[in-house]
Amino acid sequence: MERTKWYKDKVFYQIWPRSFKDGDGDGMGDLHGVYEKLDYIQSLGCDGIWFSPLYPSPGADCGYDIADYMDIAPEFGGMEAFKKVLDGAHQRGMKIIMDLVVNHTSDEHEWFQKSRQRIDPYTDYYIWRPAKKNGKLPNNWDSLFEGKAWTYDEVRGEYYMHLFAIKQPDLNMDNPLVREEVKKILKFWLDLGVDGFREDVITFISKTEGLPDDHIMPASKGLNLYNHGPHIHEYLTEFRKDVLDHYDCVTLAEAPMVNPKTALTYIQEGPDQEIDMMIQFQTQCADSFLSDYYPMKFSLKKLKKAFTNWQKKLDGRGWNMLYMENHDHPRIISRYGSEKFWKESGKMLAVSYLFQKGTPFVYQGQEIGMLNWRPESPDMYEDVQTKWEYANHATRKSDKKRLQRLWRCSRDSARTLVQWDDSPNAGFTTSDTPWFYVNQNYKDINVAQQEEDPDSILNFYRKAIALRRKLSCVRDGNYIEHFKGSKKLYCYSRQNGFQRILVVCSFSDKPVRFKEPRDFPVDTARLELCNYENPNPKKLQPYETRVYLWR
Ligand code: NOJ
Repeated sequence: MERTKWYKDKVFYQIWPRSFKDGDGDGMGDLHGVYEKLDYIQSLGCDGIWFSPLYPSPGADCGYDIADYMDIAPEFGGMEAFKKVLDGAHQRGMKIIMDLVVNHTSDEHEWFQKSRQRIDPYTDYYIWRPAKKNGKLPNNWDSLFEGKAWTYDEVRGEYYMHLFAIKQPDLNMDNPLVREEVKKILKFWLDLGVDGFREDVITFISKTEGLPDDHIMPASKGLNLYNHGPHIHEYLTEFRKDVLDHYDCVTLAEAPMVNPKTALTYIQEGPDQEIDMMIQFQTQCADSFLSDYYPMKFSLKKLKKAFTNWQKKLDGRGWNMLYMENHDHPRIISRYGSEKFWKESGKMLAVSYLFQKGTPFVYQGQEIGMLNWRPESPDMYEDVQTKWEYANHATRKSDKKRLQRLWRCSRDSARTLVQWDDSPNAGFTTSDTPWFYVNQNYKDINVAQQEEDPDSILNFYRKAIALRRKLSCVRDGNYIEHFKGSKKLYCYSRQNGFQRILVVCSFSDKPVRFKEPRDFPVDTARLELCNYENPNPKKLQPYETRVYLWR
């Protein structure tokens, strides 16, 4: 079967199901709600959906701890509701991709339950080790969510590895039986008609042999010993050859700490290509040091460098996945934009990435400019990582300071209920007790209100995505960054044999003088998109953005 690379022409919408839309009134987002909103998603110009996990799960990591890979959780509507959504999407020409989480399972998965009792064939499905002779943990690695990467299991009398939460034991991918299970899962969903997978922390699945202590990296100890591990390419190739190559599907791999050079070892186009696109984190690190939990002042220079680096290095060799938000990062306007210039910066941030080369993803609520959530108490947080960070980080600091850190860093900032209208709970549910909170700004920021307003962020996203689709140079043109040294402007052009565009984005909250780059006489171009009326050719207003077109 030839894989046609259809994903290059798509714009995806990411659904984090719990908070998207409750269709059956029990307070939890579900697939009935998604079905109701398929036309809405299509109206944005999106023609693909990535679902964060929909599988049965105890919810220790909001679904990224899977207890059954071949079913849909009853609270999301079960298999029947899923098939209805799948058909509804396909009828509209939309593709559906699932989250594949196989670095780890839930500790409530049957495999783990049997493995801890040494019941074959499950005995070696996970990474079990006894304590060291001196009684110490098997090695010095850290988990990313809850302390050390090892937890003792009374039943088995050994430690199991978990790179994430205690309830997320890592699978032993070196065991061929586990790889067979992964292939069965892939096949199951592809046969059902799904169009591909977003593969959760897939670069972590091969750990360095012997699981040695890490002496190199003080933060996230172990990362360099399990990220891009020794057999990673072999295992991904096996999945591709044995299953994926038999379907016209797409793979999108989440890859923490990846740079373009390493990414190309997976996504370089050609016969040995293992993965279609990668979720990189470098464009998320313009206001942090490696992770959201080490915040720094936003640096446009860092953002531009990351944008341009990925555009340039992948050009003609691999395909970019473009995103500004997902369920793992706080909201982008609150970070790279300005809540004060909410509407202006929301639109500008859309333009900053939507005209780059690659496949864009829009995360639920991003299209209406949802902002970070600032609860009054740390007890209101749900996320396992957030709770750990609160309990263990800088405990000498005041409670208020520690809470403020969460406002800025927590993933829950982007997991509040989608704001559909100004009725109670933002129209997310008819229940009085939704599973999670709504951001109190929902009366000002919601879909219904923005539908009515031609000047809304929502309608701007629609225009920007429609324009993107019209322009062949966005799909295949070159990319040149202009004014590289500017601390206020991000500016790039895209050009092919037929047309060229100039994209201008001001990241300043003050007016900025503007002079077009040489060879881009804007008085001969058409201004296709702008977030201000009557733009001044010589001056940009705060967070102004423009797209000029020459034919
Ligand atoms: C990455 C996912 O995006 C995140 O939400 C999850 O907590 C971890 N992987 C662990 O599965």
